[in-house]
Amino acid sequence: MAAPARTASDAPALRASGLSRRFGARVALRDVGFAVSPGELVAVIGPNGAGKTTLLSILAGIQSPDAGAVERPSGGVGWVPQQPALYSKLSVAENLRLFARLERVADPEAAVERMLAQADLADRARDEVGRLSGGNRQRVNIAIGLLADPAVLLLDEPSTALDPRQRERLWDFVGGLTGRGTGIVYSTHIVQEAERYADRVLVLADGELIFTGTPRELEAESGASGVDFEAAFVRFLHERGH
Ligand SMILES: Nc1ncnc2c1ncn2[C@@H]1O[C@H](COP(=O)(O)OP(=O)(O)O)[C@@H](O)[C@H]1O
Ligand SMILES: [Mg+2]
Repeated sequence: MAAPARTASDAPALRASGLSRRFGARVALRDVGFAVSPGELVAVIGPNGAGKTTLLSILAGIQSPDAGAVERPSGGVGWVPQQPALYSKLSVAENLRLFARLERVADPEAAVERMLAQADLADRARDEVGRLSGGNRQRVNIAIGLLADPAVLLLDEPSTALDPRQRERLWDFVGGLTGRGTGIVYSTHIVQEAERYADRVLVLADGELIFTGTPRELEAESGASGVDFEAAFVRFLHERGH
């Protein structure tokens, strides 16, 4: 099923403005705003506790912000949490079917077939999820996020538990999605990953969005030369008091 061609010059697929969230006295997000274009790959990077999960779960509609708003595409967004709720005793196809029903997808069986093909899981359809490799399990998570064929997919730390080869396969797969026009926002604390796999990076630190731009622009702003991206990133944070 070919999706209509979309280009990065289209209207934003998702827009967040003025997002703030606190937990008691702790400010997890402060006045964060940005937009995602169709087909754009956006990485949210920042230290642990920076607010990445809070931001993504607000974009996904799992949490409500204390202030601010999210404009989502009409078909909603896909959400791939860091700790997915898969049923390890059920097969891949059974998990997908269950989630398709929970999400009230119009034609669950067709959605399951599409997802098995799209996530390259057809030959794993009958395998118990508990017996899958970490890489394949992650593909099931992503398949579930894609069940409703969303225009924007949000992934929280999608590669944290993967080995380098599984990671490469993940990013190949993600590249196929953006190539078809899906806007993608993911978080990572592995900054080299954002350098390799992002059109744009958002830097969150202590709940504030302190940078938006390409990885090269971030490197340039850090003022560091002759060092790798991670060192440039750490320097960038340090110079801004984080
Ligand atoms: N449910 C919660 N209750 C209390 N504090 C929370 C909760 N969720 C997140 N926080 C706090 O908000 C901040 C941001 O957390 P989080 O969004 O998980 O950061 P990240 O994903 O970047 O590591 C942290 O200080 C964290 O302790
Ligand atoms: Mg997190």
